[in-house]
Amino acid sequence: MAEPLKIALAGLGTVGVGVIRLVEANAQLIARRAGRPIQITVVSARDRNKARGVDLSPYAWEDDMVILGERTDVDVVVEMVGGSDGPALALARTTIEAGKALVTANKAMIAHHGLELAAKAEDKHVALKFEAAVAGGIPVIKGLREGAAANEIERVYGILNGTCNFILSTMEDTGRDFADVLAEAQARGFAEADPAFDVEGTDAAHKLSILAAIAFGSKIDFGAVDTAGITRLRAADIAQAAALGYVIRLIGMAETDGVDGNRTLFQRVQPHLVPVDHPLAHVDGATNAVVAEGNFSGRLLFQGAGAGDGPTASAVVADLIDIARGEVSHAFSMPVGELEALGPAETGHRQSRAYVRFMVADRPGVLAEITAALRDAGVSIESLIQKGRSGDAVMVAMVTHEGPESAVRKALSLLEGSDSLTEPPLVLQILGD
Ligand code: HSE
Repeated sequence: MAEPLKIALAGLGTVGVGVIRLVEANAQLIARRAGRPIQITVVSARDRNKARGVDLSPYAWEDDMVILGERTDVDVVVEMVGGSDGPALALARTTIEAGKALVTANKAMIAHHGLELAAKAEDKHVALKFEAAVAGGIPVIKGLREGAAANEIERVYGILNGTCNFILSTMEDTGRDFADVLAEAQARGFAEADPAFDVEGTDAAHKLSILAAIAFGSKIDFGAVDTAGITRLRAADIAQAAALGYVIRLIGMAETDGVDGNRTLFQRVQPHLVPVDHPLAHVDGATNAVVAEGNFSGRLLFQGAGAGDGPTASAVVADLIDIARGEVSHAFSMPVGELEALGPAETGHRQSRAYVRFMVADRPGVLAEITAALRDAGVSIESLIQKGRSGDAVMVAMVTHEGPESAVRKALSLLEGSDSLTEPPLVLQILGD
């Protein structure tokens, strides 16, 4: 059999250790599929002496992970360190500069620096691969770059953060509070080191910006993702949505708008009401799911574990197998020079139904004030419910008929500063077909 593909592994957290376990457990099968063995030669992490439950003695140790790519016993560096900048980025740059391939699970680094790294990789004719960065074990990047490569992708959307999905579906099943369920997600090990990245929507926005670039052939624009997390949701919103025939899920959605020559990119991460008969409504727990709509393929649904050592290691090693087979395709499915710079889409004209929730003072005339603002802004109400008290406030929740997003925004601006509202209103879009 041909020479082994020699791997340096930087970062020995849960996923790094998962990669070691997978490469050891499936060594023969991987070698047969890849046409050559995949052999870890050297590892590096911040703390050499930490107990990790795997035997590291077969591997060389490198204290300075940034120079891994310069070693002669390394063909590919697997970066599992994390963080958009710092050692991970330094390692990625030195590796590619040294003419070595890079495999990473680091969505923050790719969202912020993916174009720079992809351009460098093109110059050096080496692979840059990041299947594990989006939706863990689900081969969605491969699916878009290869399986759906012939299609114009019209829309890509999905559940991209397992922690939020676990929290929302557990709140739905148990009626438990947000903070209590977040603590359980952290204990189960799929929350980010800083859970704000999960619950504020940043992690999903990183992943969405990567998917959008691949789906639409556009330059990554993470900064333009309109991002909201799940921290403002109350158990009462979830109950109210259920009564109306919906579940609440954090959805990342991207599509292009406008016409050729003047195309813009819509990217949003926000909790949505999802009709109970929509496939995404049945995605529970830490599972991720991505829908891509191709103009010839139709709707494609990718679903599976979005985090965890086994699924994420599976995606990393799939990238290594591609590299062992000699594949050096473009990171974003076309040369960086071909990617279009699309400006952010104007969202006011987008037509949708929305769930709008107000917390209001319990006194005469408040409901009339709200409905007058909606009337003046041209928002038509489909259903409305006023529910019990929470402290001194009462919840007024409604679903609007389909209309432009700008109308709801105008209604809220008319109510701004009103002392009838005890907190800013919450607006959630309702996922259409
Ligand atoms: N923290 C992420 C999630 C896992 O909850 O989906 C890795 O991307």
